[in-house]
Amino acid sequence: MILAIESSCDDSSVAVVEISTKKVVFHKKISQEKQHNEFGGVVPELAARLHATALPKIIEEAKTYFKDLKAIAVTNEPGLTVTLVEGVMAAKALSVALKIPLIPIHHLKGHIYSTFIEKDTLFPLSALIASGGHTQIVNANSYEDMIEIGGTTDDSIGESYDKVAKMLDLGYPGGPIVEEMAKKGNEKAYNFPVPMQKTKDIVFSYSGLKNSVRLEIEKAEELTDEIKADICASFQLKAVRHLEKKCEIFFEKYRPKNFAIVGGVSANQYLRSKIGKICENHGANLLLADLKYTSDNAVMIARAAIELYEQNKLKTIEDVDIKSRSPIKGKN
Ligand code: KG4
Ligand code: ZN
Repeated sequence: MILAIESSCDDSSVAVVEISTKKVVFHKKISQEKQHNEFGGVVPELAARLHATALPKIIEEAKTYFKDLKAIAVTNEPGLTVTLVEGVMAAKALSVALKIPLIPIHHLKGHIYSTFIEKDTLFPLSALIASGGHTQIVNANSYEDMIEIGGTTDDSIGESYDKVAKMLDLGYPGGPIVEEMAKKGNEKAYNFPVPMQKTKDIVFSYSGLKNSVRLEIEKAEELTDEIKADICASFQLKAVRHLEKKCEIFFEKYRPKNFAIVGGVSANQYLRSKIGKICENHGANLLLADLKYTSDNAVMIARAAIELYEQNKLKTIEDVDIKSRSPIKGKN
C-alpha cells in the first residue's frame, strides 16, 4: 500500500491506496473552509497552523496500515510554500520512521489522476485543469510526459468564482455558492465580456471579467438576492463560455480522443455539461472524477504515486524539496 499526504492549500488529506488493486482503503480529509471563511480566502499562515494540527491526527488514524506500506507519497509542488512544508515534513518523518521511500507528486498531475481512482489509466489524454490556482489545458502521454498547451495570464477560474462570491458577500469558497445562486438568476441580465475573444491563442484570463462584475456591483444601489443571482448567472455564463471558446480551438487543433476536466471547478455541473457537449460533438471520450475527488484530496496523489512506484521511481528524504510555483511546462 501507499500512504499519501496532500496539504498544498486548505485541505489536510491523507489516503492509503492498495498498489495492485488501486483500491482506496483509507481516506480522510479535514477542510479548513470554515476557518478561512471570515477572511474571504485562504490565509496561508493560518492554513499551515491548521495542517500542523490536522495532519498528525489523520495520520494516526491510518496507523493500522503502517505495516503494509511500501512508500509515502506527498504533494511537493505547486502550492502554498508554508502549507506544502507541513505535508512534506510529515512525509519525511514517516519515511524515516518506517524506513520506506518517498514519492513526491505534482499537485496538478495529481488532479489528472483523480479520473483514474480505482481504475486503470487511459493515455494519451488531454485535460482542462480548472482549479483555485490554475486554468490550463494539458496534453499528457504519461505522468512524466505532460505538456502545457495553454495557461492563464492572471487569475484562475476558481479564483474568479471566489472573488465574485466575496464581492457579493456570499462566503468562501465561492464556486459552489455562485453555481447555486446562478441557478436562480437570469444569465442575460448583465452583458459581461467573454475574455480573450480577439486572439485564437489558447490563453486564459479572468481579471477583466472579474473587473466588469466589480463595476456592475458598485453601480447597484441595493444588492438584493435577485440581483445577486442575476450577477452570478451572467458571470458564470461568460466565465464558462471563455473555456468553451478556447476548448473549441483546442479540439480543432489537437483532436483529442480522451478529454478530462479536473480540479475543484470541475465539480461545476454547468461547466461539465458545456464542455461535455464539445466532447460529444468531436466524438471524444469525456473523463471526470467522482464529485468527492474533484477538490484537493490525497487519494489522487496516491493514485499518481502508484504509477511512479511501479516504475521504481522512488526518492529519499534528501531528494525531496518543495516548489510553490511549478506549472506543467514540458517533458520532465
Ligand atoms: O482544486 P481545488 O480544490 O484547489 C486548488 O488546487 O486550487 O479547487 C478549489 C477551487 C475554488 O476556487 C472553489 O471555489 C472552486 O474550486 N470550486 C468551484 C465549484 N466547486 C469548487 N467552482 C465553481 N463551481 C463549483 N461547483
Ligand atoms: Zn487542487
